[in-house]
Amino acid sequence: MNQDDIKPNILVIHGPNLNMLGKREPEIYGKTTLDEINSDLENLGKKLGIFIETFQSNHEGAIIEKIQEAAATQKGIIINPAAYTHTSIAIRDALIALDIPIIEIHISNIYKREPFRHKSLISDVVTAQISGLGIKGYTVALKALAEMI
Ligand code: DQA
Repeated sequence: MNQDDIKPNILVIHGPNLNMLGKREPEIYGKTTLDEINSDLENLGKKLGIFIETFQSNHEGAIIEKIQEAAATQKGIIINPAAYTHTSIAIRDALIALDIPIIEIHISNIYKREPFRHKSLISDVVTAQISGLGIKGYTVALKALAEMI
């Protein structure tokens, strides 16, 4: 058994359009790219002794399949479902089936934006929600999860 096998795993899921971070509406989401966010998380994971797996998809079904696989392999999830936050009962149902801590994260404060963004379909089934801390929210979420698992 190698070192990675015994480290707890945390899965970080990035939803649609988050692959465009850095270029996409930088006045709202900032200039940091998704690769930079992922490598910050991986570096922090190394310090915390946690193996970080990152996943981005623009497809609802692919995100659902990843959540379903997590039941067997992951100790916690950080998820930014992006626009699916406001529309996807299917992602909500997939998350409900898991018995591990889940932190929902949004770079922007969704409650300060258009009314259609004020409703999260997952906020009442996750452990906690972070909204509006910018990309710092991801490392805050990882530190919090590390204490829980
Ligand atoms: C977001 C907020 C969502 O409303 C939006 O559709 C996104 C990103 C955020 O991180 O602030 O794509 O989840």
